[in-house]
Amino acid sequence: MFDSLYKRIEINPFDYLDSFNRNTALMVTIDKAGKCNVMALDWKKITEFEGDPVIRAQVAYSRYTYTLLTKGEAEFTINIPSERINNAVDIAGSFSGRNTDKIKMAKLELIPGGATKVPTLKNCLLNYECKIIHDAKSEISSHHYFYGKIIRAYGSVDL
Ligand SMILES: Cc1cc2nc3c(=O)[nH]c(=O)nc-3n(C[C@H](O)[C@H](O)[C@H](O)COP(=O)(O)O)c2cc1C
Repeated sequence: MFDSLYKRIEINPFDYLDSFNRNTALMVTIDKAGKCNVMALDWKKITEFEGDPVIRAQVAYSRYTYTLLTKGEAEFTINIPSERINNAVDIAGSFSGRNTDKIKMAKLELIPGGATKVPTLKNCLLNYECKIIHDAKSEISSHHYFYGKIIRAYGSVDL
């Protein structure tokens, strides 16, 4: 389906894996009051979980994002930025949403979620709306695993 407003099309989540794997993502989460946060995320994988397409994201316990994933809405979006928002990765990866509004600081523009309360981001090559269906403690790393079922995936036709 073509989304003419945001110039993107709905894609199969397993398309464009190369671009997904190669780039640092911007992970957006939201608290129960509707306030969003963004974090840089390298440790991510598109895979299947019990037959569903999922994104497995590894998030350290110290991140504010971890608090939002466990105490806010059980959803996240994964956004692969285009060159237009290059600066956002540094900001999202160096400050914490506990005391900084990184979305404002990086001048990120939001697209209301179609299937999630969490928005996606404009000026991205790829966007994924995910609902958490499982999470697990890792035996080998200090990062927690979150498995988000991919409800919708989009690819830009403009960038
Ligand atoms: C390029 C890059 C990739 C990162 N990847 C991850 C990651 O995969 N998982 C993670 O927990 N933190 C990762 N981080 C660190 C967080 O983005 C960073 O600690 C951030 O400030 C956390 O924000 P928050 O407290 O608002 O959640 C990465 C940072 C950078 C710069």
